[in-house]
Amino acid sequence: MKKPVIAIDGYSSTGKSSISKIIAEKIGLIHLDTGALYRGVTWFALQNCINENGSINLEELFSSFDQIELEFKNDNGELVLFLNHIDISKEIRTNEVSENVSFVAKQKEVRDFLLQSQRSLAEKGGIIMDGRDIGTVVLPNADYKFFLTASIEERTKRRYKELLSLGIEANEEQVKENLIIRDKIDSEREIAPLRKADDAIVIDNTQLSKEETIDNILSYIKKF
Ligand code: C5P
Repeated sequence: MKKPVIAIDGYSSTGKSSISKIIAEKIGLIHLDTGALYRGVTWFALQNCINENGSINLEELFSSFDQIELEFKNDNGELVLFLNHIDISKEIRTNEVSENVSFVAKQKEVRDFLLQSQRSLAEKGGIIMDGRDIGTVVLPNADYKFFLTASIEERTKRRYKELLSLGIEANEEQVKENLIIRDKIDSEREIAPLRKADDAIVIDNTQLSKEETIDNILSYIKKF
């Protein structure tokens, strides 16, 4: 039987990526965190396409796409993004990237640039992909679709802890503010907004541990 394609979407800091990574390990799929792609392009823009006033120069970014080479290295099922041969896993988690990523991600040119690489990774099946528009736009024919949500207080706590564990300085109020702003921009954008697919299963994990959320998702996946 063909290995399934699983789409996990939802709000920021609902645990989508860490949950998807563990599910991938448990049932032998590969995992792609698509947020890393948008963060990678944002990181590139912040390095290379900045106006005199410090804002991102979108025209310059769009005309630089041919200078961005995206590669994925399979590290035990986890697809790690390399941009121009550099592992930018740590750089893309900084506050500066978080504060700019939704602005970059709402641009049609950016979404078009990243769409095909996401789709081609799913062609052979056997993948769990997490993001905001996976079930609605990237993989509308996914075998399983889930939509994760949790209260803003719980999500703030999780992101704050994650940043501290990565050694990134953080302020809880600013973390909360950033989550609220990103969710608003992501939900209200014109192209591929953050939205539950009609056929997605909703899981509110405010009161659930990571393990309980994983078990809940796995209870829907048929043996393959
Ligand atoms: O998942 P993560 O929080 O790292 O995503 C960072 C940002 O990337 C999101 O807030 C959103 O603006 C953008 N994104 C997106 N579509 C996806 C994944 C992420 O627009 N599929």
